[in-house]
Amino acid sequence: MCGIVGYTGPREAYPIIIKGLKRLEYRGYDSTGVALLNSGLKVYKKKGRVAELEDSIVGKDLHAHTGIGHTRWATHGEPSDRNAHPHTSRSGKLAMIHNGIIENYAQLKQDLTKKGYQFKSDTDTEVLLNFIEDIKENNQCNLEEAVRIALKRVTGAYVILLIANDDPDTIIAARKGSPLVIGVGKGEHFLGSDASPMLEYTKEVVYVNDYELAIVRPDELILKNLGNEKITPFVTKLDMELAAIEKGGYDHFMLKEIFEQPSTIHDCLRGRLDAEAGLITMSGITNNLEHFKNANRIIIIACGTSWHAGLVAEYIIEELCRIPVEVEYASEFRYRNPIVNKGDIIFAISQSGETADTLVAIEKAKEQGAIIFGIVNVVGSSIARISDGGAYTHAGPEIGVASTKAFTAQLAVLTMVALKIAKEKNTISEALYKELLFELAEVPEKVEVLLKSADTIKAIAEKYKDSPNALFLGRGYNFPIALEGALKLKEISYIHAEGYPAAEMKHGPIALVDENLPVVFVATKDSYHEKIVSNIQEIKARKGKVIAIITEGDETTPTLADDVYYVPSAHEIIAPMLATIPLQLLSYYVGIAKGVDVDKPRNLAKSVTVE
Ligand code: G6P
Repeated sequence: MCGIVGYTGPREAYPIIIKGLKRLEYRGYDSTGVALLNSGLKVYKKKGRVAELEDSIVGKDLHAHTGIGHTRWATHGEPSDRNAHPHTSRSGKLAMIHNGIIENYAQLKQDLTKKGYQFKSDTDTEVLLNFIEDIKENNQCNLEEAVRIALKRVTGAYVILLIANDDPDTIIAARKGSPLVIGVGKGEHFLGSDASPMLEYTKEVVYVNDYELAIVRPDELILKNLGNEKITPFVTKLDMELAAIEKGGYDHFMLKEIFEQPSTIHDCLRGRLDAEAGLITMSGITNNLEHFKNANRIIIIACGTSWHAGLVAEYIIEELCRIPVEVEYASEFRYRNPIVNKGDIIFAISQSGETADTLVAIEKAKEQGAIIFGIVNVVGSSIARISDGGAYTHAGPEIGVASTKAFTAQLAVLTMVALKIAKEKNTISEALYKELLFELAEVPEKVEVLLKSADTIKAIAEKYKDSPNALFLGRGYNFPIALEGALKLKEISYIHAEGYPAAEMKHGPIALVDENLPVVFVATKDSYHEKIVSNIQEIKARKGKVIAIITEGDETTPTLADDVYYVPSAHEIIAPMLATIPLQLLSYYVGIAKGVDVDKPRNLAKSVTVE
């Protein structure tokens, strides 16, 4: 959460920073600000989106070759002009932006207040900045040294970018727990929360690690640890094109990402799945084969939509591999005293690879001796880097705040993982293994087909857009899809929605059913199909409105449902990947019908780098 951008070099800094901030707005959009160095420090900041700041400073002096910019997801202090970053120090000589939370800020603030400091904002960031300045003044040291001393005394997570008016082409940056990428150009450097702000200028990047500090000048990048020892920057080549982060003719990133799924699932399977040869190639598993074959338990740790992918995986892995699986919310796992035994494998699922709760939870499990297998979308992200092995989902950049294509790619990877382990463990019959391999290979094509009838979902969305509540029900492999459908609708349309196991609905949610309640059934053909049809009857008997996601060829359900959407026929293990797509479309079209900014729904953000 919070996007940060920096530039130092011969180009005009402001346009680079503004463009970069627009690409990072998925990380938060409560306020925007820039600080530019040009014969002194100029700071412009404002509550609201990047475009609002841009409009408000037309005509101002924006000329500079070094600058920093921030887009905020509020933690300490309401979204407002005064809480917007960058913050300036008491002397006015320093400006800083921050992504993260300084947990001991209250104590630091108290100490500084006793020394006579007054604060212009409610933020932890302003406290840290003045703490740095205070150290610099008292210790008579340079800024770099003051930053180092200060960071050793703070707890929490941060990426900071700091500039000083007496050092016009230097940016000091540091990271712990939040992401920081530095793009290396010819005589120039770019800084960002991810690589998107620098894509058109350089493909060479350095991922800064925790407890590292960078001194960045146009022709120099010095990386040090907090002990002031130099570290050689490890330059990585980016494998990402500009087109991947642009809307490409779609009205919204979310719609683009939904419609990209035939190709993102294909990319995820490519090079791994060879159905003809009966092969799944996944080095992350092969390299740890004995661990997987002998695993006593798999613990899946994730948040949000990724957690739902973990739930689907629980069903698939237990069925095919006969290994017990537990699925944990990262935020809960990390704060209890979880039992992690030798022989347990942790799956960390994360689109961004930066979610703070997931990251800390797996660090904790790693300390206890677990093997970490990362299922991550963003290449080079923190979770990917601390995992012992893993599999990238290869869905490409996901920019819409609500996760769509990353989810189906996670399901594809997890299905391959389950099949690979089952084959190695001999817990799957040859016939089922082969069948599922072919079924998996057909998913991109089937998704392509079902997306052709997106307009059916649009019509359903129009019909139910004014409902204040909705219920999503599913059984077995489709139960987590019901949860995901409800989450998506909440996120994108602000309609209160609950996901439930279809049979469990009798123990509570059925009290909500009346002629106004839309109930979405994820009811593709599976081993329990008659059971879910009975659940549909139970809702109809109470006059609920039934929207059913069903398999082509199902002739019973349409006679009961008010609205139906057909997905191509697939094995029950594969069907969740198909059934989830109409639910993504439903939330998108309801959101649009209600005038929600679907790519940036209120209060949410992607890449949640705070707890
Ligand atoms: C946020 C996003 C969700 C995402 C969740 C977990 O809440 O808005 O779309 O599912 O974080 O993120 P991760 O990057 O770890 O998958």
